[in-house]
Amino acid sequence: MARRVFSGIQPTGNVHIGNYLGAIRNWVALQDKYDSLFCIVDFHAITLAYDPNQIYDRILDVAATNLAVGLNPEKVTLFVQSSVPEHTELTWYLTCLTSLGSLERMTQFKDKSARQKGNIFAGLMNYPVLQTADIILYKADLVPVGDDQIQHLELAREITRRFNTTFGEIFPEPQPLLTSGARVMALNDPTSKMSKSIEGSCISLDEKPESIRKKIRRAVTDPGPQGGEMGPGVKNLFLLLEAFTEPDVYRQFKTDYANEQLRYSDLKHTIGEGIVEHLTPIRERRAELLAKPDYLKDVLMAGGDRARIEAQETLKQVREVMGFKFPVS
Ligand code: TYM
Repeated sequence: MARRVFSGIQPTGNVHIGNYLGAIRNWVALQDKYDSLFCIVDFHAITLAYDPNQIYDRILDVAATNLAVGLNPEKVTLFVQSSVPEHTELTWYLTCLTSLGSLERMTQFKDKSARQKGNIFAGLMNYPVLQTADIILYKADLVPVGDDQIQHLELAREITRRFNTTFGEIFPEPQPLLTSGARVMALNDPTSKMSKSIEGSCISLDEKPESIRKKIRRAVTDPGPQGGEMGPGVKNLFLLLEAFTEPDVYRQFKTDYANEQLRYSDLKHTIGEGIVEHLTPIRERRAELLAKPDYLKDVLMAGGDRARIEAQETLKQVREVMGFKFPVS
């Protein structure tokens, strides 16, 4: 049987080139080789303050973007987490196997709770348990993510192991799959990762050409000497150069850098044009898809139907081994 891939993305704002290079581009590459499920994780999106009136449109937006970059709904199961309520049931079972200490140690929890004004709710801390449930509900083997998710994946493996040793070997231990763009840094602060929540840090997949050029022109580089170790801003620009231009262009700039002949303005111009060229067809396809909300809804609902059958099957097994003998009525 083909190995199974699962991954997720939150409908919390515009999909950016970090999400694209770290995860979604890889999803497209994997869809021909593996049995793949990709989930728009709206239950995760409510772990921080959100607007209930926006979430539906944001889901359609993420779906349109995923299809625009090349996910084929005939090949993959693309669905919305909340249309498969089994995710939350399994989360509860796993919550009872997860130590509080391990959740408190999660870097993402610490970062997000430090930024949160007001109450921090238990859902934010349990975020990685829900993520574990997402993955093992479908018995996935491989999880293509950016490297900020590695710690969550390690915890997912630990929780899975605990389940298997307590109740019997039901689940494979999921493995992360990383790409060369696994960590794209913020353009305006290359010591932090590019993120929807850092103003001015990212380029979204529907960004207009002029805005792309401007953001790249303003990207932080370094005043340091060329030829030696690159500073974080320059390293990040080279990552974008490699992702969005041809290999010979990348090689030439690398040589110029080594020979101390690189002009950052040329580098930025080439990257800006490369991104504009790469994203223009994606932006156009995305707009066409967004004009067909019923089609997007149908794709997601068909995906949800397929996912739910599997999820129910897994939960039947889980309930049995955990000793819940009363049927769901
Ligand atoms: P989200 O929506 O925050 O991120 C979606 C994906 O984008 C990657 N990513 C990045 N990659 C490279 N550079 C960056 N600057 C960058 N920023 C984000 C993330 O690593 C992620 O792969 N917790 C997940 C959502 C999720 C999930 C799952 C993933 C929920 N359940 C089960 C895998 C399996 C997340 O970070 O979403």
